[in-house]
Amino acid sequence: MPVNPPPARKRVLVTGATGFIGRALVPALIEQGYDVRAATRTPTVAQRAATHVEWVQCDVERAGDLDRVLRDVDAVFFLVHAMGQGARDYAATELRVAEQVRDAAARAGVERMVYLGGVAPSDGPRKVSAHLRSRLRVGETLRSGKVPVLELRASMIVGAESASWQIVRDLALRLPAMLLPSWTASRTRPLALQDAVVALVRGLTLPLPHSAWYDIPGPDVVSGREILSTIAALRGRRVPSVRVPLLSVSLSSWWLKLVTRADFSLARELVLGFEGDLLPEDARYWEEIDYQPQWSFEAAARQALESEAFRPTLRGFAGSLEEAMVQLVSPKLK
Ligand SMILES: NC(=O)c1ccc[n+]([C@@H]2O[C@H](COP(=O)([O-])OP(=O)(O)OC[C@H]3O[C@@H](n4cnc5c(N)ncnc54)[C@H](OP(=O)(O)O)[C@@H]3O)[C@@H](O)[C@H]2O)c1
Repeated sequence: MPVNPPPARKRVLVTGATGFIGRALVPALIEQGYDVRAATRTPTVAQRAATHVEWVQCDVERAGDLDRVLRDVDAVFFLVHAMGQGARDYAATELRVAEQVRDAAARAGVERMVYLGGVAPSDGPRKVSAHLRSRLRVGETLRSGKVPVLELRASMIVGAESASWQIVRDLALRLPAMLLPSWTASRTRPLALQDAVVALVRGLTLPLPHSAWYDIPGPDVVSGREILSTIAALRGRRVPSVRVPLLSVSLSSWWLKLVTRADFSLARELVLGFEGDLLPEDARYWEEIDYQPQWSFEAAARQALESEAFRPTLRGFAGSLEEAMVQLVSPKLK
């Protein structure tokens, strides 16, 4: 009796595999039975952290590297951005990289690409920050090629290592009182890392006859102010707040320098991107993949705080002081 051969395992290239999203995605793909090729600019460092993965060296700015790592690959996750790496004109770099990735994927005969981008502001193009404009342009560029591209647009993804999370977390927990500039009235729908990973993994099997984009909103609509007060409350703090409507977004971004451990240029761009509402057009994607996000913003924030390397033993502002003292003694502890 003829025996059907087992279905061939799909090989998936994950660019940005060492990043916040990539580190969570790689084990989820392996668990689902994919062969994962994980790309980084410095594989010797990455190999030490995760030995069971095929690490490959790839700088996405180099077309030759892309051709090499895309060989025999069925699908690609594009999880790379150039922001916060000191590059002054990161938008031009991101555009050039997107064109190269698009063309290299077509040359290699890749079946599909999944790109995690950012939500377009609800107030229209007038309010698009340079960072978001670049993320959206990368999506458009990737989608303009021969390989079908699934662009998933998320606002803040919540997890202890996320740069955008670290900014709001540090603002909520490190300031004795909060000056609330106008941007904290803007609303968005943050998504837990675990739900984002499900969205990405299922993006590999979603029927995709041609390129498409979807928003991937979290379950709650929250303002910047609610984000900050929820985080503070989870650590037993009530942050006295003073509203300063005239404090512009760009001016207020300067105090980020004093407060957050995240890269300042990155923090500033992310806050500038929050000048208006960042609300998705719809939540169709979750229906398409037959899944609903499981984590409320509060639950995701609690989990992110609990998984931090340092957990204060004191509550409230005393806990924030305790954290500051520990970091003074041990600056590497974040
Ligand atoms: N975090 C969020 O809240 C969030 C929200 C919405 C969308 N996104 C999107 O999700 C994607 C991943 O974000 P993330 O938070 O995981 O970023 P991340 O933690 O900053 O990681 C960035 C990754 O990019 C890689 N990279 C940078 N330049 C590279 C280059 N020239 N060649 C090859 N690799 C390069 C880095 O790898 P090596 O240094 O090892 O080479 C690193 O793994 C981005 O597209 C971002 O826009 C993130």
